Amino acid sequence: MSVEVRNIHKHFGPVHANNDISLRFEDGRIYGILGENGAGKSTLMKILSGFYRIDSGQILVNDRVAHYDTPRGAIQAGIGMLAQDPLDVGAFTVLENFVYGQPGGILPDWEAARRRFSEIEKHLGFELNPELSVEYLSIGQRQELEIIRLLALGVHVLILDEPTTGISAEQKQVLFSSLKRLAHQDGLTILFVSHKLEDVLDLCDEVAVLRLGCLVGTAQMPVTTNDLVAMMFGQELAPASRDDIPFGDIAVEVTDLHMISERVTLRGLGLKVRAGEVIGLAGLEGSGQQLLTRACVGLIKPLGGRIVVAGKELTGRHYRDFLAANVCFGAAGRLEEGLVAGLTLTEHFILADPEQTAWIDRDRGTRLAADRIAHYHIHGQPESSIEMLSGGNQQRVLMALMPPAPVLMVLEHPTRGLDVESARWIWEQILARRRDGTAIIFVSTDLDEIVTYSDRILVFYAGQVTEVPDARRTTVDELGHLIGGHSVLSGEAV
Ligand SMILES: Nc1ncnc2c1ncn2[C@@H]1O[C@H](COP(=O)(O)OP(=O)(O)OP(=O)(O)O)[C@@H](O)[C@H]1O
Ligand SMILES: [Mg+2]
Repeated sequence: MSVEVRNIHKHFGPVHANNDISLRFEDGRIYGILGENGAGKSTLMKILSGFYRIDSGQILVNDRVAHYDTPRGAIQAGIGMLAQDPLDVGAFTVLENFVYGQPGGILPDWEAARRRFSEIEKHLGFELNPELSVEYLSIGQRQELEIIRLLALGVHVLILDEPTTGISAEQKQVLFSSLKRLAHQDGLTILFVSHKLEDVLDLCDEVAVLRLGCLVGTAQMPVTTNDLVAMMFGQELAPASRDDIPFGDIAVEVTDLHMISERVTLRGLGLKVRAGEVIGLAGLEGSGQQLLTRACVGLIKPLGGRIVVAGKELTGRHYRDFLAANVCFGAAGRLEEGLVAGLTLTEHFILADPEQTAWIDRDRGTRLAADRIAHYHIHGQPESSIEMLSGGNQQRVLMALMPPAPVLMVLEHPTRGLDVESARWIWEQILARRRDGTAIIFVSTDLDEIVTYSDRILVFYAGQVTEVPDARRTTVDELGHLIGGHSVLSGEAV
């Protein structure tokens, strides 16, 4: 089955998100869709999968013009997309979710469904318990369920929009080998959107690169990372680097921390971070990193232990006291926790501006917004609503909202979903604050990022913490082992 888009145009107000895009996708191949944040990748994928209607242009399936403008229509045409946020229903089991949405009316044949489910599951090399409630599945397992569901619906073109964010290295291996089997043995077409160039090199047969809504080129493998970067940004990037700087006084001291979440217990954790020092927190998601980050910003009160910021005892205090002590926080849930959906950029800057009083000075807010938009190279207008911005631009806004010289900056996944250049840029901003004496604690599942930017690393495994005292002496492989729980030394204070 071949799919082709011809002269696709799509506008969102003044934004020309897809500008005359023509591409052809053959069966049996895996295509990488690349481009900087806001380039129009998701827009094109949502058009193909029926979530968005095109302004003009054509979609051809097997060289015949296809007319669909709903996800159901796309699936009938054989094209399905793995939603970035899984569409499953939490209270249902895996099997119920599988059956839900399949044709079969109100009285499904459960036995037939179970057989079909396990047939596809085995073929792909996935291992899901059909009786388990979906709420207990990891993101990776929910993706697996979604892929099985789409295949059962007869999809021949499978679209995945950044599927490797938030899944473990092992799950990624399973996913990649099943995608390769689907394409190279079963003849499906796979479209794979990603910012992780290594993943694209590992998986794809061909790439297409978008920039500012336009198609800038396609390439057949093999190519190098540098080739891809040059296609995406028009130039190669200098290697990421970081100066050695002398550390200052202790910015934050955590002693004998005791915290419990649904999944992990942290006990006896101690940590001292000096001004200018960068601590990377590595580990599978939910291994206890977020307990530490949230304790350090006053969002969760620990059961035991002390937290002292710049000599000031803040144990058990409200997060406003942490803010007043010049601690700032970039939350993992960018749009859920860090920013306020529905508010404009100006409104965000007004909210974060300490000079604003109950009598809001809108003009000041608009000037501030325009100023920060220019300084932080944000693609957006003061009056743009925050959720209209692409992920990378939302992250830039989050950085722009932070105070200029905090004592401590706590960041969860500061570059998740960002293109290589935006990620670089965000780190320049973080490192500039570090040079001015800000202590930095950050969480990431990207091991390259951890190794490149940390002075010290704490590896979390099921609430146990291992310290890597000199990040420059470790490798991504070594970290990978620690993250999987191999040779964890102790849960002792570090
Ligand atoms: N629903 C929407 N309403 C308004 N503007 C939108 C909408 N969806 C996308 N845009 C805009 O269209 C442009 C392309 O966005 P798109 O999400 O396709 O980019 P992307 O390449 O997927 O970026 P990212 O790598 O950040 O996911 C951006 O400028 C974005 O702000
Ligand atoms: Mg996108």
